[in-house]
Amino acid sequence: MPVSFHRHLARRLLVGGLVIATVLGSIVLWLDAERLDKNIVAMGVAEARTQAPQLPPDLVSLTAGQRAEFEEKMQRLIAERANARGDHFVVAEVYDLKHDKVGEAVASDADDIEGAIDRSVHHFPPPGKTWYDKHLIGGQFYLQMVIPLSSSDGHHLGWFEGVYHIPRQAALQVALGGLRATILVVVAVLATAALLYPLLAALNSRLVARSRDLLRANLGTLEALGSAIAKRDSDTNAHNYRVTLYAVRLAEAVGVKGDQMRALIKGAFLHDVGKIAIPDAVLLKPGKLDPDEFAIMRTHVAHGLDIVGQFDWLADAAAVVGGHHEKVDGSGYPAGTAGDDIPLLARIFAIADVFDALTSRRPYKDPFPLERALSILDEGAGKHFDAGLVKVFAALAPALHATLSAEDEKTLQRDLRHLVETYFANSELTAAVIRTRLPQPA
Ligand SMILES: [Fe+2]
Repeated sequence: MPVSFHRHLARRLLVGGLVIATVLGSIVLWLDAERLDKNIVAMGVAEARTQAPQLPPDLVSLTAGQRAEFEEKMQRLIAERANARGDHFVVAEVYDLKHDKVGEAVASDADDIEGAIDRSVHHFPPPGKTWYDKHLIGGQFYLQMVIPLSSSDGHHLGWFEGVYHIPRQAALQVALGGLRATILVVVAVLATAALLYPLLAALNSRLVARSRDLLRANLGTLEALGSAIAKRDSDTNAHNYRVTLYAVRLAEAVGVKGDQMRALIKGAFLHDVGKIAIPDAVLLKPGKLDPDEFAIMRTHVAHGLDIVGQFDWLADAAAVVGGHHEKVDGSGYPAGTAGDDIPLLARIFAIADVFDALTSRRPYKDPFPLERALSILDEGAGKHFDAGLVKVFAALAPALHATLSAEDEKTLQRDLRHLVETYFANSELTAAVIRTRLPQPA
């Protein structure tokens, strides 16, 4: 298995673990802060309960004297609680049912707090509910809460508002608690990832082995089928190798890529696979075929389509197998398709096929020189061949022909396998797979 996969897996597990840990840590921190808020609000609710019974039943009609007395009482309460219990109520206020302030007490050291908290956004929750809000003033946290006040017989009297200073220690405690939880989660997630890593790596090894087997089988089928037909009408695979190489170079020049290129390679290698079904008397006849024999010979296209259509992995070879004898003027076979209706891959392949036939030795002819072969292609441009493709091929042909016509079958096979590696290895993983499958030439 490639080293890069291990790195990739480790990185994914690490990054995934850190993201999960951060999210979980934040949730823990938020829950802790919520818990602190709830505790403080509960304290406010208890405060309101202790005050309520001491309040007159009608807060709206308190006299000025009663108000002053009441405020003094609350002021004392704040100071006493601060001394006796270390409480941090810095503001306490009571509102009547008209939302008017009845009394107010502010801790001696908290005058600025009252000013800083915006009183205009008061909410007066219905009985049984509590409203609260958080403020950060001068680097300190404050919790402002409004709690309905009810008399002992259940009458709604008004509201108690308290502003509680959350001691730095408590805020720090929450932050530390959250940090501790985050660290714990990080350690737990990373430990889990460390346990999963070998398991995932082993599973992936098996997957790679399966993929390798499958690709081997598929490539083996391609070679076996291509060779089978080559063995019937000649002793070598050289024509198959060369036409594939010519076709791929032309396709590269016109921008064919990816799946299309793989389809071209399969189609080029199997273009005449249907000849397996042609009787020897026709296929191997040394002389010219009569019209009946030619009609039989033409059926190799349909037989070829039949063969590649039976195997999903070869199905995309159909463009070349089915269209390699079509001509752009519509005079080809089997369908008589014309112009751009002929698949691009078939138009590319037709040029490669004819060029190699012209420049190869056959029992009935010597190889044509390059110039003659190119001039025959040029004569066929716009009739047999796609004129634009002929032009592109004419520019590539001299160098390609010089190389390929001088190579023996083994070297051509090596070149073709290099092509397969380039175009079927679309990931590093598959490249490794293919490298193990392709024997290096001696
Ligand atoms: Fe053919």
